[in-house]
Amino acid sequence: MKFGFLGSGQMAEAILSGMLQSELASPDEVIACDTSARRLEHMRSAYAVATTACATEMVPSCDVIILAVKPQVIEEVLGAVRDLFTEEQLVVSIAAGKKLEFLRQQCGTQPRLCRVMPNLALMVREGMTAFCMEDDALNEDRELIAQIFGSSGAVLELDEQHFDAVTALSGSGPAFVAYLLGALVDGAIKLGLPHEAARLLAEQTVIGTGIALQESGDNVGDFIGAVCSPQGTTEAGMKVLWNSDVHESLEKTLAAAARRSRELS
Ligand SMILES: NC(=O)c1ccc[n+]([C@@H]2O[C@H](COP(=O)([O-])OP(=O)(O)OC[C@H]3O[C@@H](n4cnc5c(N)ncnc54)[C@H](OP(=O)(O)O)[C@@H]3O)[C@@H](O)[C@H]2O)c1
Repeated sequence: MKFGFLGSGQMAEAILSGMLQSELASPDEVIACDTSARRLEHMRSAYAVATTACATEMVPSCDVIILAVKPQVIEEVLGAVRDLFTEEQLVVSIAAGKKLEFLRQQCGTQPRLCRVMPNLALMVREGMTAFCMEDDALNEDRELIAQIFGSSGAVLELDEQHFDAVTALSGSGPAFVAYLLGALVDGAIKLGLPHEAARLLAEQTVIGTGIALQESGDNVGDFIGAVCSPQGTTEAGMKVLWNSDVHESLEKTLAAAARRSRELS
């Protein structure tokens, strides 16, 4: 099977890297296309894949086309290749905010379509990817999407109506979690910890907490309760959080990101 990346920036690279590491594809089954000569040189030297600056040259030779350019240039990019698509091809868009209906208009009637919202944690194979497909989608396409993105993390099929929320939570979420982590590091430095130690402690605490919650399936409140001993240190810290507006601010953060996703579409 031949995979083509239409746009070969940081997300395309994260997806490609997972596909190669999991041996879902070999380098000779991949073509990377980009307008940036620097990106093409990087994709060639780091992953030994074929490259081209010409989308019209790449598209006819691919079974699966992963559309990984910025949302602002999608119309221009698809406009140039739309007449080349066939019904044997699957177009997978990772563009934030671009709906299946819009993609169908831009791609024409021929190719099969999938809309995907991955996140940057694909880079370390701990990504979260949600996808949706049209009503008449083929199960073999579903399975392929689960394999492509499952090679770099978890995958979930969801109704498209949830995609603004998905974009806010897991798409933009790594930035929000990094912000919180940064605040924990700053607080630890004020307590006298060296910067490097504070980073490591904070990072491992965030990673471990996520895994522990996921593996136990515990309710978040119960989990917090299990860490808090009566009148202990965690409870002293939690009282500050419970009396603050951090919870409300995070809800507003997600609402703003979801609103922006709606505007983009
Ligand atoms: N970054 C995230 O966390 C994230 C998460 C979820 C979804 N996404 C989605 O992923 C997509 C890609 O994001 P990204 O962060 O990977 O962006 P990126 O690093 O900027 O990659 C996009 C690449 O496409 C190239 N390009 C521009 N016009 C092109 C054209 N006409 N033909 C071929 N290539 C072209 C760009 O080159 P130039 O730089 O020279 O313009 C750039 O190398 C976006 O649609 C975004 O919404 C991103």
